Amino acid sequence: MNVFITREIPRAGLELLEKEGYNIVQWVEKRELTEEEFLTHSKAANAILLTGRRKADAAFFEQCSHLKVVSLFSVGYDNVDITAATKAGIPIGNTPDVLSNATAETAFLLMIATARKAFYHHKRIAAGNWDFFEPTAGLGTDLFGKTLGIVGLGNIGFEMAKMCKGAYGMNIIYHNRGHNKQAEAELGAKRVELDDLLAQSDVISVHVNLSDESKGMFNAAAFAKMKSGALFINTARGGIHNEADLKVALENGTIWGAGLDVTNPEPMDKNNPLLNMENVSVLPHIGSAVKETRDAMAILAAKNVIAGLKGEKLPACVNPKVQ
Ligand code: DGY
Repeated sequence: MNVFITREIPRAGLELLEKEGYNIVQWVEKRELTEEEFLTHSKAANAILLTGRRKADAAFFEQCSHLKVVSLFSVGYDNVDITAATKAGIPIGNTPDVLSNATAETAFLLMIATARKAFYHHKRIAAGNWDFFEPTAGLGTDLFGKTLGIVGLGNIGFEMAKMCKGAYGMNIIYHNRGHNKQAEAELGAKRVELDDLLAQSDVISVHVNLSDESKGMFNAAAFAKMKSGALFINTARGGIHNEADLKVALENGTIWGAGLDVTNPEPMDKNNPLLNMENVSVLPHIGSAVKETRDAMAILAAKNVIAGLKGEKLPACVNPKVQ
């Protein structure tokens, strides 16, 4: 069996695949595969372990309908046309749960960093601007007892809410299609309509998948409904916020600050004005970038490959109806 891996992944996952005796081709160059390279390698494989920015769209599945499984090294699956994969009968694996703590921690980090303008102060020192003490300059905003609004209270959102409740005694509200009974019971979380969440939250943290529904949902109209003291935190996908509208909302004081682990596009241009704003913290999509988490993701992704090649049920599958 031939397995194509589109980036170097942790040994922990590779070892599992090697033990099965698969012929592994791993793309180790530190550049994105071209579409042609991606297709050529995928055509020669029985399974692919997909990470990076290459998209598996309808045209891809038409040409690679022979694949037994596509295993993602991510919980998000917006780079895959799930309808086309399902039509081709190909199971799509992903890596939920194992990265919830690390990703929630990134949201928590961005919330505190933004509230205290930590990245701005760091840049000030690096630029040689640690000058005399000014009691009224560079001030942050308090988080104790504030209201956290979670958009998409799944596993990652739950962990973020737990951290905010534990550290700052924050009041938790959330917007989901259904109720999250665990969050309601354990954290006293309250489900509200989106407009109420926008109006009531001091911090909004986004944890939904990128979909037609969520694409651009944080636009000028949404920012206008938020408190002027609010922080906007996005660790999900850059396409969920409209970057131009966010910039205007921050410049005009429509909202107070933003913490982004995801941007649109990625990588963010180094001259992007958001990088020079006091109340903005940007990270390069490092939500799951913890050694233990990346090992666990590699293991789960490898298990999805193995199950797919054996014709078994994937441990974590996005389109279980094909199994
Ligand atoms: C995920 O797992 O979806 C992360 O955001 C990496 O893409």
